[in-house]
Amino acid sequence: MKTETSPNSHSPLASMEEWEDFLKERYPEPAPAAAQPFQATDPNKKPEQFRNYEANARPSVREFYRQNHRHQTYEFAQAKRKEFLGLNRRKMGVWEAMEYLNTLVDDSDPDTDLSQLEHLLQTSEHIRADGHPRWFVVAGMVHDLGKMLCLWGEAQWAVVGDTFPTGCRYSDKIVFPQFFADNPDSRNPRYQTPLGVYEKGCGLDQVQISWGHDEYIYHVTKDYLPEEALYMLRYHSFYPWHREGEYNDLANDHDREMLPWVQKFNLYDLYTKNHAKPDVQALRPYYEDLIAEFFPAKVNW
Ligand SMILES: [Fe+2]
Ligand SMILES: [Fe+2]
Repeated sequence: MKTETSPNSHSPLASMEEWEDFLKERYPEPAPAAAQPFQATDPNKKPEQFRNYEANARPSVREFYRQNHRHQTYEFAQAKRKEFLGLNRRKMGVWEAMEYLNTLVDDSDPDTDLSQLEHLLQTSEHIRADGHPRWFVVAGMVHDLGKMLCLWGEAQWAVVGDTFPTGCRYSDKIVFPQFFADNPDSRNPRYQTPLGVYEKGCGLDQVQISWGHDEYIYHVTKDYLPEEALYMLRYHSFYPWHREGEYNDLANDHDREMLPWVQKFNLYDLYTKNHAKPDVQALRPYYEDLIAEFFPAKVNW
């Protein structure tokens, strides 16, 4: 997807996976014993340790976060919802959408050479191998389809990146918090109280999270998947909530009930790369069946 090489272009990352590789450094895989039950970030970890991840980040990743934090305003998040959530761009079957996403050609990622489709199948295959229900497997398979926003000319910072609530104070646990100084919302007092424009316990559904591939795929699939799966899709990049435990005042009891599913999903999303490549053609019949179980032949995108 990178078409320009200038560091100031809207595609500073060689590929979107560069962002995810950075996340893996920031959130190393928990030891299996610690993963059950899932523990959010080690509370004893000192802020300096986080800052180290930032210091070691590639310049392209740094530039990516600089743009993301600067441009993801409350107004922007609202405008993009209006622009895309009418879902009137295409009608495509889910497998077709996977092939469409796969036409996104990145510069090669130094750490993985997986195609988009391979990442999706790798995620879902690990979920399946662990014996989880079929709706969980299907969630793994569709979770990043929203990255097709890039195919419609959207900037990287408007498609990927850890998401965060707009319209209220930024948590300092968000990566590179200093870059929010360039966001016009940081100078709007209405948006800079802990609750901002929201009410305590209003529920995440009422919160306008920064715009990206999570919110988009949630809306595409919301009539077809069970709620646990929809939480996984909608909040999988919301690291400040699911890994850092922030923004609990905006969440309601139902969000907290669903949180362990989002956390469980995150392990598959982040840590199943770099294993053997899935055999796409061999797996296709199983997945076509799975898709048919949950989705109509054509879905609105
Ligand atoms: Fe994602
Ligand atoms: Fe992913």
